[in-house]
Amino acid sequence: MKLCIAQLDLRGKRIFLRADFNVPLSRDEITDDARIRAMIPTLEHCLTNGASVVMGSHLGRPVGRDARYSLKPIAFRLEELLGRPVPLAPDCVGPTAEKLAATLEPGHCLLLENLRFHAEETANEAGFAQALARLADCYVNDAFSVSHRVHASVGGITRFLRPAAAGFLMQRELIALARVLSQPRRPLVLILGGARVSDKLGIIRNLVPHVDRLLIGGAMAFTFLKALGCETGFSPVEPKLIPMAKTILDDARARGMQVMLPEDVIAATYPGDRHRIVTVPAERIPLALAGFDIGPATLIRFRDALRDAGTVVWNGPMGMVEQPPFASGTAELAKIVADCSGLTVAAGGDTVAAIQRAGVADQLGYLSTSGVAFLEALEGRELPGVAALSEMTGQPLAEERP
Ligand code: 3PG
Repeated sequence: MKLCIAQLDLRGKRIFLRADFNVPLSRDEITDDARIRAMIPTLEHCLTNGASVVMGSHLGRPVGRDARYSLKPIAFRLEELLGRPVPLAPDCVGPTAEKLAATLEPGHCLLLENLRFHAEETANEAGFAQALARLADCYVNDAFSVSHRVHASVGGITRFLRPAAAGFLMQRELIALARVLSQPRRPLVLILGGARVSDKLGIIRNLVPHVDRLLIGGAMAFTFLKALGCETGFSPVEPKLIPMAKTILDDARARGMQVMLPEDVIAATYPGDRHRIVTVPAERIPLALAGFDIGPATLIRFRDALRDAGTVVWNGPMGMVEQPPFASGTAELAKIVADCSGLTVAAGGDTVAAIQRAGVADQLGYLSTSGVAFLEALEGRELPGVAALSEMTGQPLAEERP
């Protein structure tokens, strides 16, 4: 069992808090602040118990310093939520960051600029990890959603800064995961959607032995449909990944596992086309059209597949939810999942936001801010960022929330 923040004596300590403020932005506007709000309990706990906090996070995948990926909007939002000043250090390492961190009074916090402005972060470079470690006295990881990455602020830093404890959000994620992993009620149904096929295909391959049914929708479905020889029109397909998609389908079939792909899709010539929105069979999408949502026949099939589910894990929207005509497949599926009697878990920002918009968030068992990390952990492997945390000594604690 991992050490938790509730067990740390925080008085007079400076905490390095690894957060995940990788939130969706439209220009400088945060379009979903769930990940920022999820960090507040840990922050408040530190600040009201006599600690000061140095927060580090990534935002996006910048290559070098790039103003579009500045954490400035995050600092503003944190100030609003905390009702305290949240200064932004111009860099995450170096003399200025060190000076700002060293002069932090108890009850005060500092946000570091984007960790990924330095390539050393993703390279897990030891010198960079050590430079981050110099900013604090102990380490708290509350970023389960990035703990599948072997990056300096998630892994390397814990070699130089200990103890390394789990924050409250990390603790909640681990408890939810344990509920799914330890003897899940069967059948275990995994619903996958979204567009990041390249990020998720390897995970799907590894998860096949663990799940009983796999329902695939969203943009990633087209690569699988193509692998089956379907006509996908100009829907997004990743040609390089077709052989792997085929292997996954063959493997699933050999194991007697059910894989369900869309039967019909809502298609249009382009996402903004309000005039020619048609429902077409997923295996024969006309050349001039692309699928942007799952269709009604697919929803019926998915509903039937979920009827007796003991456990449901859902990651990724079923369509282009940011365009209202293509959001209804995801919204309808949210209601179907909410009606399931088994344990239901939604993983990932877009999925959780869609469930909230559908008004059924309180009917799901657990809403995780982590997408890919949650799926990787579902394979049963300990994530590197979790493995790096200190072991708990003494009595295990029940789930604690401040
Ligand atoms: C996420 O949004 O999944 C996490 O913040 C990790 O981001 P990454 O995939 O860019 O490492």
